[in-house]
Amino acid sequence: MATAGRSSSGSSGESSNPNPDVNPSPVPAIAADSSLSERTEDGAASVEAIAHKIQESLSLNKRHRFWETQPVRQFKDLGNPSLIEGPIDPPTSLSEVKKEPYNLPAPYEWTTCDIDDDATCTEVYKLLTENYVEDDENMFRFNYSKEFLRWALRPPGYFKSWHIGVRVKASKKLVAFITGVPARIRVRRDVVRMAEVNFLCVHKKLRSKRLAPVLIKEVTRRIHLEDIWQAAYTAGVVLPTPLTTCQYWHRSLNPKKLIDVGFSRLGARMTMSRTIRLFKLPSLPTTPGFRRMELRDLRPVTRLLREYLSHFAVAPDFDEMDVEHWLLPRDEVVDSYLVESPETHEITDFCSFYTLPSSVLNNSNYSTLKAAYSYYNVATKTPLVQLMNDALIVAKQKEYDVFNALDVMENESFLKELKFGPGDGMLHYYLYNYRLRNPLKPSQLGLVLL
Ligand SMILES: CC(C)(COP(=O)(O)OP(=O)(O)OC[C@H]1O[C@@H](n2cnc3c(N)ncnc32)[C@H](O)[C@@H]1OP(=O)(O)O)[C@@H](O)C(=O)NCCC(=O)NCCS
Repeated sequence: MATAGRSSSGSSGESSNPNPDVNPSPVPAIAADSSLSERTEDGAASVEAIAHKIQESLSLNKRHRFWETQPVRQFKDLGNPSLIEGPIDPPTSLSEVKKEPYNLPAPYEWTTCDIDDDATCTEVYKLLTENYVEDDENMFRFNYSKEFLRWALRPPGYFKSWHIGVRVKASKKLVAFITGVPARIRVRRDVVRMAEVNFLCVHKKLRSKRLAPVLIKEVTRRIHLEDIWQAAYTAGVVLPTPLTTCQYWHRSLNPKKLIDVGFSRLGARMTMSRTIRLFKLPSLPTTPGFRRMELRDLRPVTRLLREYLSHFAVAPDFDEMDVEHWLLPRDEVVDSYLVESPETHEITDFCSFYTLPSSVLNNSNYSTLKAAYSYYNVATKTPLVQLMNDALIVAKQKEYDVFNALDVMENESFLKELKFGPGDGMLHYYLYNYRLRNPLKPSQLGLVLL
């Protein structure tokens, strides 16, 4: 998943609505004004930070009947200096991996979802569109497009058997889903073959029946069958034990719509027209040589990315095939731009974002929010702030409503300056069967999962 909590939103750090005439929603998302950053550093925002800490510590005391049995770093391991970094359980021989799928409750059966098949892809799309991640207030729900799912689930070397569904035997209705895709992820100096596990979803009517652990065990079994023993995943919930915890930041591109749908709200002492002016962007990118990435750019972009990602403790180990798949632009799925020096024609900078709309629930005027999510960005000559401002400009040109970014890599250096506001959803990153001695800071993480 991309995020959690108010996935598609954030919080202003204010406890009460400053302008109920304009936005009666009691649940703030992001405040649509630039004083946000000041407010978040004091007053109400610190209350939020405290609330968050309390919630986290309560989560640490919670029992995890399933996760306590899994080879993941346990909460009690925190601060234990005798535990070494690396795999928790050694790989077993393939002949020891269970050959049969795990048992499901009698009314259900396993299915492998062939995402190339349009009818199956539509079923998966429908399950996720109706049942996948919502914000805490149930105002927005992720709406991954079919094209996006085909992209996310078919990277180089993907395994069809890792796209797993559960159907009702009688009706054949698809009611649960989980996926893995292969990736090479470098943890410090070691490049580890992993699965990236994503799109865990159980139909709303089948929740709290312990189906999720069965799905997780089944995808793990099928991953083991390919001789892969580690995985990376993210979740909005606290489980044993985050590798790091990141925060989403949101940059309004279409503030009026964001306020109208309750994603953000008018800041104190702000009018709509001042807010619109505040978030206005130039109509064209400003950096000379800024253009969309093309196939011919594969080699220099891969070189740029590999060098940049080598600076983070955990990051993907991309080769040209990976870059072609993950970063070559695909309309309404992923977009990449670069700076080609007008003098030397050298590729010096790169930025990218993916497209993940959210359904707007229960709003008579709007059905979708069009969101861009910052992906991988590398600045060597152009200042990162300027590069990301150009990314905002092209996203605005393409009629995105909001541009989201995690505080991973060097993103913190541009968030406040470019008028991003902090969201209220935290995104926790996890590794399966791999232990790091200490949690990382978000800025040490070079990995973005979809
Ligand atoms: C996430 C979801 C599949 C969990 O299913 P559920 O019916 O609520 O929970 P179940 O009774 O089946 O299983 C509970 C177990 O799954 C774990 N679990 C819940 N959400 C999880 C997640 N996102 N990742 C990993 N494990 C998770 C719980 O921690 C619990 O294990 P524990 O006892 O060790 O703590 C379901 O709530 C859902 O589809 N939510 C909407 C989509 C979503 O949030 N997907 C996850 C994106 S990361």
